[in-house]
Amino acid sequence: MTRLKVWDIPVRLFHWGLVGCVALAFYTMKTDGAPFVFPIDIHARAGYVLVGLLLFRWLWGLVGSHHARFSGFLYSPARMLTYARRLIGGRPPVFAGHNPLGGIMVVVMLLSLTFQAVSGLFLSDDIFFDAPLHGLVERSTARTLAGLHHLNANLLIGLIAAHLVALLVHRLKGERLVGAMFTGRKPLEGAPEDEPAGGLSRPTASPWLALVVIVIAALPVMWLWNA
Ligand code: HEM
Ligand code: HEM
Repeated sequence: MTRLKVWDIPVRLFHWGLVGCVALAFYTMKTDGAPFVFPIDIHARAGYVLVGLLLFRWLWGLVGSHHARFSGFLYSPARMLTYARRLIGGRPPVFAGHNPLGGIMVVVMLLSLTFQAVSGLFLSDDIFFDAPLHGLVERSTARTLAGLHHLNANLLIGLIAAHLVALLVHRLKGERLVGAMFTGRKPLEGAPEDEPAGGLSRPTASPWLALVVIVIAALPVMWLWNA
């Protein structure tokens, strides 16, 4: 058994920040929102932070550490199928980063989350809340986007449920993935298919690069927060 460093600190902070904001966004819309006096305001602010987190993740997926990059975890449909067959057969091949099915699932979740957060910016609750970009679109467009915001929220619930079931399936197959999202290190039985025997040539990314990407992602959040 080896313990490989797979998730850098930015990916881990992104993930748990994402979980917190998504939970808050759902809580404020699916319940009476207590103890918040204006749940829609909290809903929108959770959404603004999500815009920043997601912008960060899209950029980090291009320039981040090896396992954070899309190029490190997007595979051909043939690879996904082979992986699915071996998972069903009970002997999934070992991957350090996201496996071929997990990788595509991550991108679908990121797309759905991004649509949710961005569509929210154009909405109004027709009572006292107009989102920052509401004035830019016709009333009918805002209504269509509200319908899609509702539909995609339900899709997100399905995707999150599938994500949690997948983690459970992997746990039952003996793979402990959750601890690695806290510690960054994943226990692996055998040599992973997505790392060469001698290790990665560039496993980590520069902290300065991370700082630049964080600053870029924080700019729209600051604007939205004060809009
Ligand atoms: C990923 C982030 C977000 C999630 C998960 C989310 C989720 C939801 C959900 C579940 C609803 C209730 C829809 C329904 O079932 O009818 C809703 C409504 C709404 N959301 Fe979001 N939302 C997000 C981001 C945003 C943002 C950024 C804004 C505004 C800045 C926003 C503004 C609204 C408004 C105005 C409504 C309609 C409230 C009403 O009709 O009274 N949302 N959202
Ligand atoms: C709102 C709920 C959640 C959302 C939207 C969500 C979303 C995501 C996303 C987008 C990733 C990809 C990470 C990246 O590469 O940036 C991911 C990975 C992961 N998430 Fe979540 N997540 C949620 C809840 C949870 C919970 C509750 C747990 C733990 C019990 C969890 C454990 C993990 C793990 C272990 C991975 C890495 C999987 C792997 O090893 O390939 N997630 N999640």
